[in-house]
Amino acid sequence: MSLPKVYVGLPIQEAGLELLRGKVEFKIWKEDGPPSREVLFKELEGADGLISGLPFRVDGELMDVSPKLKVVSNYAVGYDNIDVPAATKRGILITNTPDVLTAATADLALLLILATARRAFEANEFMRSGKWKTWGPDLLVGMEVSGSTIGIIGMGKIGGAVARRAFGFGMKIIYYSEERRLDIEESCGAKFVSMEELLKESDIVTLHCLLNEQTRNMFGEAQFQMMKKTAIFINTARGAIVDQKALYKACSEKWIWAAGLDVYEAEPVPLDDPILKLTNVTTLPHIASASNVSRNGMARKAAINLLEALQGNRPPDLVNPEAWK
Ligand code: GLV
Ligand code: GLV
Repeated sequence: MSLPKVYVGLPIQEAGLELLRGKVEFKIWKEDGPPSREVLFKELEGADGLISGLPFRVDGELMDVSPKLKVVSNYAVGYDNIDVPAATKRGILITNTPDVLTAATADLALLLILATARRAFEANEFMRSGKWKTWGPDLLVGMEVSGSTIGIIGMGKIGGAVARRAFGFGMKIIYYSEERRLDIEESCGAKFVSMEELLKESDIVTLHCLLNEQTRNMFGEAQFQMMKKTAIFINTARGAIVDQKALYKACSEKWIWAAGLDVYEAEPVPLDDPILKLTNVTTLPHIASASNVSRNGMARKAAINLLEALQGNRPPDLVNPEAWK
């Protein structure tokens, strides 16, 4: 019997590939940048499974290339790069990689909070460009993180991990989410509040929700205007949750004090994007889950979800249970 045919659309870690060997026949994209639409159309012909990722979109048209396609296993926790309703309609299973990247992503949110509040990247630049003349009482003074109030929007696994870290810093934690998290309320003293109260009270506002039709563009001028002038805004979730023009305005016109970003409306961010010119905006290139442990875990999960689906089993991280029968 021939093995199922799989296309791996991005160069995932060996930890995942070794699980695939001998079980499926796979081809893998290894070039710089994402595979083009043409490449995807060609490689998906006759495929039973696809390992996808954030660099390319998977829509109905692409799914239709192979009538045999059973599963799209996304190497990410977010799956806004996939048209999930289109997959469900076709009976194609969609999976993601939760849990293994929770700690790494929460760590990076804390890194952005600390670096933005204490102006670490600006200070690094200052020193390397020869501007450091003396120790000074006013030199690169930032915002104190310990004891500040953090507002967490989206208290899922990552939001909860951020709360536990914030608790360790003695922060006061308020949150807004689809569901109450009594465990986090108990362990970290987190308080559930309205969105408006969160925006008005927080010294740090940090996003940890999925991008979907409810959250797309949820954060705009009105939200930034409600925030304190001394507050910082952190985004490690998805750029499109935020109106980036409004964010630029809020930071350049000092409606808020600063921002720390790992995600953007368009990625990669064009070099001439004015957001890259602001000294009060800390920018990282979407690396929240980029720790060795996390990326190996994501590769393994992507492989396991794919193999389970191809063997006719319900994959552990199924995103569209409606497609499972
Ligand atoms: C990364 O952004 C992910 O969703 O895993
Ligand atoms: C992370 O695993 C999340 O779903 O928040």
